[in-house]
Amino acid sequence: MAQTAISTTSLPFPLVARGKVRDVYDVGDGRLLIVATDRLSAFDVVMAEPIPWKGEVLTQATAWWLPRLADVSANHMLSLDPDAIIAAVPGLAATRAIWARRSMLVRRTTPFPVECVVRGYLSGSAWKEYRASGTLAGEPLPAGLVESARLEPPIFSPATKAEAGHDENITFDDMAGRLGRATAEELRRRSLAVYARGREIAETAGIIIADTKFEFGTLPDGSSILLIDEVLTPDSSRFWPRESYRAGGPQPSLDKQPVRDYLDSLSARGAWDKSPPPPPLPPEVVEATSLRYRDLFRRLTGVDVDRFLAGAPGAAP
Ligand SMILES: Nc1ncnc2c1ncn2[C@@H]1O[C@H](COP(=O)(O)OP(=O)(O)O)[C@@H](O)[C@H]1O
Ligand SMILES: [Mg+2]
Repeated sequence: MAQTAISTTSLPFPLVARGKVRDVYDVGDGRLLIVATDRLSAFDVVMAEPIPWKGEVLTQATAWWLPRLADVSANHMLSLDPDAIIAAVPGLAATRAIWARRSMLVRRTTPFPVECVVRGYLSGSAWKEYRASGTLAGEPLPAGLVESARLEPPIFSPATKAEAGHDENITFDDMAGRLGRATAEELRRRSLAVYARGREIAETAGIIIADTKFEFGTLPDGSSILLIDEVLTPDSSRFWPRESYRAGGPQPSLDKQPVRDYLDSLSARGAWDKSPPPPPLPPEVVEATSLRYRDLFRRLTGVDVDRFLAGAPGAAP
């Protein structure tokens, strides 16, 4: 199937947010259209070249997960099917080719200003914190853990949503001070429960979800808390191949490794300092990365993303 990669969209509705990856539109009546573009960020810098299939993979992976997690947390999804979205929002009909298959119609919430990170393995900033102080999210961990060690039980390690730059890890008490203790406890409980379910399902597909980030929001009446945003995707999580997992060092990433390797090779010879603007990516790096995202989707769901989109038998979420 020929595939058009998209870096940015311009739909006839108010743009409420343009994140690193998503363009988010207010389509009225308390609903948002969340469009996953094909933008890719590495080392917190958004690359100039879009990655074909990336937006579709992120959106369809989230849609694959949500029903599998629905008994653990209610979520924001209203519709994924382009026909149903157009029936609900007729003003989207003329731009269908741009957003279809990469977009979800969702309930608009007020997001909590905290990223709910769960770590089942010791990696990234958590490994750095542990190595420096023996703690994770400010709480002591057993001594002698190695990089990429499995954490049992998994640990909730919240972070603030930084407008620019890196998110900042905070302690649970800090989160409780910001949101109220009861809300913070509920978000922690749900995050750990969603992660536990996700980790178990992914393991049967040979994928280790080392850590992940959830977002939650409240509906205008303030009563219900919904799981929002993307869920258990390679962009919001560290996915490792189970067959090559070895604790005691860093693990290869299932998705962005070709880009990271290329960028590391540039900075090793002083050709890029890991700050904007990004260097151009060679076509073979773009293609290898696109293939990674598609392979990961098939490994997780058992179906190719293009067949999934065509409604292959057994592919429906
Ligand atoms: N149901 C929802 N209600 C309100 N905001 C949402 C909802 N789902 C996702 N969002 C917001 O949409 C944005 C998605 O854009 P994204 O590119 O992922 O941003 P970021 O660069 O912050 O990760 C995020 O700011 C997220 O908080
Ligand atoms: Mg995001």
